[in-house]
Amino acid sequence: MTSARNRIHVMHGVNLDQIGRRDPQHYGGITFLQLEQTIDGFADDLGLDARFFQTNHEGEFVEELHRVRDLADGVVVNAGAWSHYSRAIGDALQFADVPAVEVHLSDIMAREPWRQVSVLADSCIATVMGKGPDGYRDALAALKAELDS
Ligand code: DQA
Repeated sequence: MTSARNRIHVMHGVNLDQIGRRDPQHYGGITFLQLEQTIDGFADDLGLDARFFQTNHEGEFVEELHRVRDLADGVVVNAGAWSHYSRAIGDALQFADVPAVEVHLSDIMAREPWRQVSVLADSCIATVMGKGPDGYRDALAALKAELDS
């Protein structure tokens, strides 16, 4: 008997819990709860089982990545500002042993130069940016394709 590989850990990093208070031009005015509910709906539509994690503490994010192979079959990561400089998170993603897709609500390539660099991208099978919450549907679909292949 084969068991379905459909458990997705959706990991949000620093300041993502505050997106409802952040610049609506970049983040659309959606609250974090609404974002997680939207992602959960996308996962249901795709037959995936989404679990959610958020922290503002980099070490906690790293430790969750250490555990993730026991918790999930794939990871969606929006690490917020850490995406641009945290080699520690990049390293942890590298040996997480599950496929990861990086998501950004905003188009980081159209923003300040420091945001145009992702130190996580090399550890991910894909990066989705600039599509707002819909980007998470693309990320989940990419993971589903990877897990089904
Ligand atoms: C973000 C983009 C980052 O540059 C920023 O620091 C965030 C959110 C995004 O989802 O667009 O916190 O990851």
